[in-house]
Amino acid sequence: MTSRIIGTGSCLPETVVTNDDLSAIVDTSDEWISSRTGIRERRLAKEETTTSLSLEAAKRALADAGVSSKELDLIVVGTLTGDYITPSAACEVQAGLGAVNATAFDINAACSGFMFGLHMVNAYIRAGMCRTALVIGAETLSRILDWSDRSTCVLFGDGAGAAVVQAQERGLIAFDQGSDGERGACLACRGRTNNNPLVQTDKTYGYVQMDGQEVYKFAVTTVPQSIRRVLENAGTEAEDVSYYLLHQANLRIIQSVAKRLKLEPERFPVSLDHCGNISAASVPILLDEVNRKGMLHRGDKIVLSGFGGGLTWGTSLLEW
Ligand code: UT7
Repeated sequence: MTSRIIGTGSCLPETVVTNDDLSAIVDTSDEWISSRTGIRERRLAKEETTTSLSLEAAKRALADAGVSSKELDLIVVGTLTGDYITPSAACEVQAGLGAVNATAFDINAACSGFMFGLHMVNAYIRAGMCRTALVIGAETLSRILDWSDRSTCVLFGDGAGAAVVQAQERGLIAFDQGSDGERGACLACRGRTNNNPLVQTDKTYGYVQMDGQEVYKFAVTTVPQSIRRVLENAGTEAEDVSYYLLHQANLRIIQSVAKRLKLEPERFPVSLDHCGNISAASVPILLDEVNRKGMLHRGDKIVLSGFGGGLTWGTSLLEW
């Protein structure tokens, strides 16, 4: 028994923010952002929340799968920007869907959140603890960005992607995942500090800080290694995989991974041009875009791979 993705959905906020829009608030340019990253525009939440985006993505995934919310026995949301510290985004989604038979909780693995969620659901399925699950990656990163820091605020966007996963004979073939907490400081966002007046009165909030070059080096070495491990474990040749859907952080990272795997760039679909980097949401949003364009056919092999804060990485080889 393994886990098969039987439906996908996604939801982006309405407001489009172009690179030119950003050059009005920080010292940047469309030329810099698009040539260094491939990003041309992103969607940023106004009224939308992590929960509302997740809920809409979930409804679309359930409709695509033809599954009712009552059939769900597990909901996992990968996010670092839940609307509440508690309840979790997953519990909010459960309530919104009326998924009364599901256990629901979040996991924080930053940009690998959807992948870690998928692998955890797979473990639940293989252990017989669940049959039909919803895995979501969702973020409203715009709430935790320093909008005066041009080195980070131009990179990210908001949105949610969801997949319905079911216990079936064919589906997830092999996976690889890992963490390197020693290097966590190169992509960090501090949580609330202690504002107990008996102790101290520091009420500052943390914002995303990144050593871009360190994370870049990590990504272009770790991601190809992780993909190679998965392919080797499955006895699958890189050329036998139709598409490689990578976390959408930087077009140059994606092109470098393709080159290192000696594969043509056409096998690496891209959504970052119109989405930016949406952390845990970027892989399921891209998967949904590719699915809805009719690019996936039953029996096709695809690779999903996420990487980022933690540091963390996670890769799956799936039969569609
Ligand atoms: O999702 C989690 C995973 N995250 C990633 O994978 C991100 C990985 N890193 C990257 O994608 C790239 O490192 C960045 C896109 C973040 C940065 O690109 P870079 O080519 O590594 O640029 P850099 O940081 O070396 O900066 C080059 C120059 C600097 O100026 P000086 O020191 O050369 O004068 C920066 O101050 O570009 C400057 N710069 C900017 N200029 C205009 C930094 N940000 C901007 C900006 N607009 N927005």
